[in-house]
Amino acid sequence: MNDALDVDGTRLAYVDTGSPQVGAPTLLLVHGFPLTNIMWKAQIDGLKETCRVVAPDLRGYGGSSLGGWPEPEGEPSLVRYADDLAALIDHLNADGPVVFAGFSMGGYIAFSMLERHADRLDGLALLDTRAAADNDTARATRLKVAEHVSEWGAARVAELMRPNLFAPGTTASIVQQTVELIASTDPAAIAASQRAMAARPDSTSRLPEIDKPTLVVVGDQDAISPPAEMRSLAEAIPNAQFVEIEGAGHMAPVEQPDAVNTALHEFAATL
Ligand code: MLT
Repeated sequence: MNDALDVDGTRLAYVDTGSPQVGAPTLLLVHGFPLTNIMWKAQIDGLKETCRVVAPDLRGYGGSSLGGWPEPEGEPSLVRYADDLAALIDHLNADGPVVFAGFSMGGYIAFSMLERHADRLDGLALLDTRAAADNDTARATRLKVAEHVSEWGAARVAELMRPNLFAPGTTASIVQQTVELIASTDPAAIAASQRAMAARPDSTSRLPEIDKPTLVVVGDQDAISPPAEMRSLAEAIPNAQFVEIEGAGHMAPVEQPDAVNTALHEFAATL
C-alpha cells in the first residue's frame, strides 16, 4: 500500500505492505543515492509474506517532497534523513522488532540513526555501504556534482555512476532500469544528498559500540563498497553476520534479489 506522512510540513511517501503474524519483524528498507523505493521491488514482493515491509522514498526522491531542505543558509546533513525516518518509525507503531536495512547511502544514514535514534531499532542490515567518510578526492567530486547538477541534469549523473554500479554479467535490462531511475531524479535532491554525504563523519571507530544484531551484505564485485572493506566492517561489529552475494556488484538487491532476500529473511527470523 502506498502511503504518505507529513514530517514538519514535508510529504514523506512510503510503501507499507505485508500481512505477517502479529509480532513479526518490520523491515524498513532505506534506498541508496540517487534512487527511490523502486530499487526494493523484489524485496517488497519477496519478503511481505513473513515481514511487514516498509520502504520510504527519502526526502526529495520519488513521491517525497524536498520541502524547504536544505534551508538557503543551512548545510545539508544525513541527520535530516535520519530524523525523517525516526518520525516514520514512530508513526508505524510496529508491534514486532524493527530492522533498519540501509543500502549504500541508506547505510550511511543508519549510522546517523544509531547516533540519534538507536532506541527505535532492534536490528540493523547494512547493504553495500561503508563506515568510512569520503577522502578528499571523493568529497571534491561530490561537491562539484552538487554545484553543477542543475545545469547538467540527472541523466549525466546516471551515466557517470553506471560503470561502478553493476557486475559485468548483470543483464542489460536491469542496468537500464536503474539508469532510467537515476536519470528521472530531481537535481535538487541529488545536490542535497551529495553535500550531506560529503559532510558525513567517519563512523569506523563507532562500529565496536553497535549493540544491535547486524547483518552485513555485499555483492562480491561491488566497486563502491568493496567486499574486503565490508568484511572488516562486519568483523568490527560485535554481533554481526557477513554475507557475500555471488554475481553482484554494488546494486546487489536488484542484481541478485533472491540471494539478498534469503539473507534478509534468515536474519529477520532470528530477531
Ligand atoms: C549509493 O548507492 O547510495 C551511492 O553510491 C553512495 C555514494 O555515492 O557513496
